[in-house]
Amino acid sequence: MGLDEAVLLSPDVEPIRYDVSLTPDMSKFTYEGSTEVSVTVVNRTSTISMHAKELAFWSCSYTPAGGSPQQAKGIELDVRATTVAFVFAEPLLPGKGTVAVAFTGQLNNEMAGFYRSSYTDINGISRVMGSTQFESLDARRAFPCWDEPSRKAVFKLTLTVPASLTAFSNMPEASCTTLPGGELKALSFMDSPRMSSYLLAWCVGEFDYVSALAASGVVVRVYTPPGKAASGEFSLDCAVRTLDLYDGFFGVPYPLPKLDMVAIPEFAMGAMENWGLVTYREVDLLIDPVKASSAQRQRVCSVVTHELAHQWFGNLVTMAWWDDLWLNEGFASWTENMAADALFPEWKMWEQYTVDSAAAALRLDAMRSSHPIQVPIRHAEEVEEVFDAISYCKGSYVVKMVHAVLGRENFQKGLMAYMDKHKYGNTITADLWAAWEASSGMPIAEMMQSWTTQMGYPVLTVSDFKEAGGKATVSVKQEWFLADGSEVSAADAKLWCVPILTSTKGGISDDVSMMREDTMAVTVDLAGGDWFKFNADQQVPMRVSYPDDVMARMSAAIKSKAMGASDRAGLLLDSYALVKSGRGNAGSLMKLLTSYADEDDATVWEAIEGVLTGLDTVLVADEGIRADLNKVAKKIIAPLLAKVGWQAAKDDGHLTVLLRATLIRLLGTFMYDDEGVVAEARS
Ligand code: BES
Ligand code: ZN
Repeated sequence: MGLDEAVLLSPDVEPIRYDVSLTPDMSKFTYEGSTEVSVTVVNRTSTISMHAKELAFWSCSYTPAGGSPQQAKGIELDVRATTVAFVFAEPLLPGKGTVAVAFTGQLNNEMAGFYRSSYTDINGISRVMGSTQFESLDARRAFPCWDEPSRKAVFKLTLTVPASLTAFSNMPEASCTTLPGGELKALSFMDSPRMSSYLLAWCVGEFDYVSALAASGVVVRVYTPPGKAASGEFSLDCAVRTLDLYDGFFGVPYPLPKLDMVAIPEFAMGAMENWGLVTYREVDLLIDPVKASSAQRQRVCSVVTHELAHQWFGNLVTMAWWDDLWLNEGFASWTENMAADALFPEWKMWEQYTVDSAAAALRLDAMRSSHPIQVPIRHAEEVEEVFDAISYCKGSYVVKMVHAVLGRENFQKGLMAYMDKHKYGNTITADLWAAWEASSGMPIAEMMQSWTTQMGYPVLTVSDFKEAGGKATVSVKQEWFLADGSEVSAADAKLWCVPILTSTKGGISDDVSMMREDTMAVTVDLAGGDWFKFNADQQVPMRVSYPDDVMARMSAAIKSKAMGASDRAGLLLDSYALVKSGRGNAGSLMKLLTSYADEDDATVWEAIEGVLTGLDTVLVADEGIRADLNKVAKKIIAPLLAKVGWQAAKDDGHLTVLLRATLIRLLGTFMYDDEGVVAEARS
């Protein structure tokens, strides 16, 4: 793990099962709590250290199995380390026992720990609800615990709340007793599976819901604010279908009896994957069946498929420490697209991936300020910094690359074995490589290390193109790609293990060769055509630079769309990035752009838009080239306007709607002097 031992809680005492009881006061915004933890004392010790933050302690006792309780003689808070140490006069001896702690906490309004949200109900009355957000380090803010992902334990929760409110948690209700007087009820939930503290969650408030059954019989519910149940139908349908898909895909069925998803009025992120109780920002879960846009539906679907992926990757199998956070977020971000693509193939999620997530990864990781996917986290607080585009976008990109190299069957076979072997446990990145090596017999660890332990990615420069007997031969060189075009000293030079995948007229070639050195000669079977493109389907996080003669061959394949959409978009994005870094020239890029005169794919157009508007800004100073750019832009935009038009049609598909939005933005930038466009814009 490479971290200061002092950062982790002492291994002397191990939690096994928590019994947490909380009684919130929904008007004073405080709560009384007790935590009883069954533990194993591993080594003789006179202190029990747990995480705690913004909690006040009343008492702590330790009772050895079959023995009598001993009260702690000291309670020592360390505010900086967010820990509490309970000190005992008589050392605790190795064996089983129970730690009981009584404390008071705040129902804060900081969207972390156990916190309150305010909202206005359908009658315009201001209301308060309570919910939790624990990842990464805030379970300790709700109750004292071993708040580290490897300290998995069983959690049992009891909430005592006003009888008029609804309360739920990760697990279904086990019992409900109304307290004398009838004002309060005590709700106990079933024992959770063995899991990490950051995945525990609960909610208290007033809700409506819609529900449905997954094929496995798991009950799926979407909780909405009162009166808005219909807005939960879309995400409910996505969730049920996704759960069925993942049960098959991961091979281990979803292990809880229910899955709730709830919209929280005040929420710090988009959504959080608490096991069996996923919490969302309202806009990321609820869809107005009448007014919602295509983009909103796609967002909600992606957030749902992402959080449900975590029910396996993250919840069932959890990274041992936060330095492997990418295992959670990178993998969930890949799976999110895999599932959304299965649910809505017409959205072409993988093509969209090339122009948004992949493009973001390549943009950020080309800077000297980037960092490797696997980062040392020496202090727990540093973890907040790694929830970034490198973990999410580059992380999902390297998963996409492994998928391309292994093929779907070996990829899935390896994953199933990984899930089965590590369920309810913790892993490091190497465990995943090992599973794929076993399923495929390929040297996956060697290949992947070069992508996850060093920052940045390569640019492949193609040269010496020759064609003979239906085959092309070229020489390829790899170098670290830097967006600012700065020199890489010999001492800083990097090498990657690059899978060479090629697109030709015949599609994507099956045989993958590995480039391990800085140069390599490559022979491509042109499959009866006259063109080839490396990085087929943009499966590898890298850029490719071609000489003009190879580029010229691709032009007809772009026009005829013999080349796939991800390749058409990727080629353009690469060429633009190369120009900006000083490796390519604007003239060749302009020439390439003219090949897109018949383009009508929404995602390719997103790439064209990025390049045209980017060039427009870069070239402000050069009137001559800018005039050329304007000509090229008009030449390719005009036919699109003729095809797509201004007006939405009833039978417009999801992607046509997105494409029209791109088109209208471009008309404003490049066609502002066209009479027809101006007249239409006025009307
Ligand atoms: N596990 C994260 C939520 C999270 C993020 C917790 C940062 C703590 C710190 C969750 O799975 C997530 O990634 N949510 C994303 C949305 C997702 C669709 C990319 C978010 O909240 O933006
Ligand atoms: Zn996530």
